Amino acid sequence: MQEMILSIESSCDDSSIALTEIKTKKLIFHKKISQELEHSKFGGVVPELAARMHAEALPKILEECKPYFKNLKAVALTTEPGLSVSLMEGLALAKGLGLGLNIPLISSNHLKGHIYSLFIEKEASLPCLILLVSGGHTELIEANSLNNMSVLASTLDDSFGESFDKLAKMLNLSYPGGPVIEKLAINADENAFSFPVPLKNSPKFAFSYSGLKNALRLKIEELKAKDELNDKNIKNLCASFQKVAVEHLLQKTKKYFRLNPPKNFALVGGASANLYLRAKVQKLCDEFGTKLLLAKLEYCSDNAVMIGRLALEQYKIKDFTPLHELDISSKSRVF
Ligand code: KG4
Ligand code: ZN
Repeated sequence: MQEMILSIESSCDDSSIALTEIKTKKLIFHKKISQELEHSKFGGVVPELAARMHAEALPKILEECKPYFKNLKAVALTTEPGLSVSLMEGLALAKGLGLGLNIPLISSNHLKGHIYSLFIEKEASLPCLILLVSGGHTELIEANSLNNMSVLASTLDDSFGESFDKLAKMLNLSYPGGPVIEKLAINADENAFSFPVPLKNSPKFAFSYSGLKNALRLKIEELKAKDELNDKNIKNLCASFQKVAVEHLLQKTKKYFRLNPPKNFALVGGASANLYLRAKVQKLCDEFGTKLLLAKLEYCSDNAVMIGRLALEQYKIKDFTPLHELDISSKSRVF
């Protein structure tokens, strides 16, 4: 009989469940119900709404997994970091399943999940230097093995993905901002507006996006006052912003490369789907003779498949959490 792990991801605004075969690492089932359209009306994620939508979507997806219940050996779920009210919905479901099917529970970390999105349906290849760019995080991580990871640099304020979301909100575009801004930036003039690259002259090994956000706000106000916030300028703003946002990531990453050229480098997280960023990072890796690892585009944004892949490693070492100890945490530092 095929033995499987059922994994649940509900840390933000995506309700997702996956089934992964333990022996072969093969993905058997995956479904994700995204709440983006609902949150788009508010320009960002509304926690209360997210929780209610998870409560509806997760059991609906679980229904489809019923034929596989007899194959399940463990239930894995994201327990941190994330929106507490959203994580709680995954927790309730996992506890019910664990209790009902009498199988162990695996408490998985969302950020490690993004890292393991690189190894879906394949062997893991660590050590690797990782740049994780998502809506909640911008971190350079030294990933040596499953339980030996450390954060080398993180953001002092906003994250890379969040800066795309905030610009989109200022321009009345849809949520999430990343894909829409990337699209508008294509073929636009990235030198039309000049914004300072954050922390350019700072020796600090960190990221920061709040200054860039303020510079964008001022530029948008100026264009509005002159009645020049037209389609052409919006596109050029998107391209000029994207150029600087990416330049900042590259400058700090290159600083690390110079000190410690890595053999393997990976870009993960929702914003790693950005093709402009991917191309720039590929160039940097070529310069240093570094191998670049990327997840498939469909597994960059939050999903339960990456949690299932991570859980395979935890299952191997029996990293189970007793039902009464299983809890969630919104903590963002976990390594
Ligand atoms: O990993 P993810 O799905 O959720 C979190 O864990 O935060 O990442 C979502 C973030 C959002 O901020 C979204 O705007 C950003 O990733 N994102 C992008 C792109 N696609 C998604 N940012 C830039 N370019 C993209 N193509
Ligand atoms: Zn994520």
